[in-house]
Amino acid sequence: MSLKKGQECTLTIEGAAFKGKGVGKIDGMAVFVNGTMPGDTVRGRIIKRKKNYREAKLLEILEPSPDRIDPKCQHAKVCGGCSWQHVPYQKQLEYKTQQVTDHIRRIGKLDTPVHPAIGSDNSFYYRNKMEYSISTRRWLTEEEVRSDEFVDDSAFAAGLHAPGRFDKILNLNECHLQRSESFEILQFVKNYCIEQGIEPFNIMEKEGFLRHVMIRTSYHTDDFMVNLVTFRDEPETIQKLSDALLKAFPVITTIVNNVNDQHNPTAVGRYEKVIFGPGFIVDKIGDFEFKIHPNAFFQTNTHQAERLYDVARNFADLQDGEIVYDLYCGVGTLSLYMSQKASKVLGIELVDVAVENAKFNAKENGVENVSFIRGDMKDVFTQDMVDEFGAPDVLITDPPRAGMHPDVVARLCVLKVPKMVYVSCDSSTMARDLQNLSEVYDVLEVQPVDMFPQTYHVEAVAKLRLKSIKN
Ligand SMILES: C[S@@+](CC[C@H](N)C(=O)[O-])C[C@H]1O[C@@H](n2cnc3c(N)ncnc32)[C@H](O)[C@@H]1O
Repeated sequence: MSLKKGQECTLTIEGAAFKGKGVGKIDGMAVFVNGTMPGDTVRGRIIKRKKNYREAKLLEILEPSPDRIDPKCQHAKVCGGCSWQHVPYQKQLEYKTQQVTDHIRRIGKLDTPVHPAIGSDNSFYYRNKMEYSISTRRWLTEEEVRSDEFVDDSAFAAGLHAPGRFDKILNLNECHLQRSESFEILQFVKNYCIEQGIEPFNIMEKEGFLRHVMIRTSYHTDDFMVNLVTFRDEPETIQKLSDALLKAFPVITTIVNNVNDQHNPTAVGRYEKVIFGPGFIVDKIGDFEFKIHPNAFFQTNTHQAERLYDVARNFADLQDGEIVYDLYCGVGTLSLYMSQKASKVLGIELVDVAVENAKFNAKENGVENVSFIRGDMKDVFTQDMVDEFGAPDVLITDPPRAGMHPDVVARLCVLKVPKMVYVSCDSSTMARDLQNLSEVYDVLEVQPVDMFPQTYHVEAVAKLRLKSIKN
């Protein structure tokens, strides 16, 4: 069967694959279908034709998988936020474990044991940060697009970006990713603005006022931040809105106004004004406290981040007085986590503000044995640097999705670090790097950790030891 583009097909889904798509086979050819899960029998239309596989759009579920459940949220099908709501959480964990195992076996060509993914205690309401967008243009539902009637898409839309669309917002009626007050605040702000004639931002025309409502909550304290991102600086309007918010939601401990009068669609303002409270929230990871400002990076699932770091620390098996390197250290959270036993820790990171944040976090926590260097890893992680700082006994690497640059992998092979831990948010690129590192290092075990329930994303931690060093 040639399975041409546009052709309809029927198949049974056998596995959960790349980007959470279900995969089945037709005459031996793999066909990936969005929005499906193993056990579903579906009708689809081929939308992509590649040499070794096809991609199909789901048209109809003919026979649902016995495992399929009703999504908690009415927007599950269209919102890009949580695309696995039809999969029971225990199954999500199984599929994530399988995904990591497949990558380790097929791409890494390794038979390293992969442990079952560590699940999150809360499979909903786990995010500590939500960045809702406001727009004059709402995204139309499939029914509205197909309707013969004229459908007006202009509105005060408050919600999340439609998948792949910077200009259209899915107008949310519910959202279960952050604690309940978060969505109630979004609805309150929207209703208040409509009543008071405060305009939503129009990104095409570059006019209007309110651009984003960002909410940050703390897992370990009662701190609660609302960040109102506006196109213009209108102190009186913001003060009145803030007063109304504080009256309706006593849970709020700080309100900030980011003014983004530029054309970029981010929630980061050109400048920021603190309207109420200290302008930051405080949260903890392990024994360390973090002052989190509106635009600072912080792991979005605090409790699971602690579990992830615990796995990394166990795999590092740090002994008193050892030297630790933390490659791609971000704001230095892992560096601090490792600092308690180490003689010294060196964090290396590309982004300026992250390094500034890392230094600030270390200082605030009174940690004196960590230092940070800014630069592109492939350029700054050199033998000269190692000579200057001292050879690492333990090296943690937590690269971005793309994995490590080949030059960095090559350096690690030459450097021969006794103990290494690889933390990854994309197990396919981690598997590629592990394959190259496995010439010099034994890859002993891999532990997936689920930071993002209801999505197909999974973090994984690998434990490596220099060959000839046991355990
Ligand atoms: C997955 S994050 C690691 C975060 C950190 N370990 C944590 O747990 O918070 C990857 C980090 O790598 C940094 N990065 C990306 N490319 C880099 C490069 N070429 N050199 C150095 N750092 C880089 C990013 O800015 C980001 O902070």
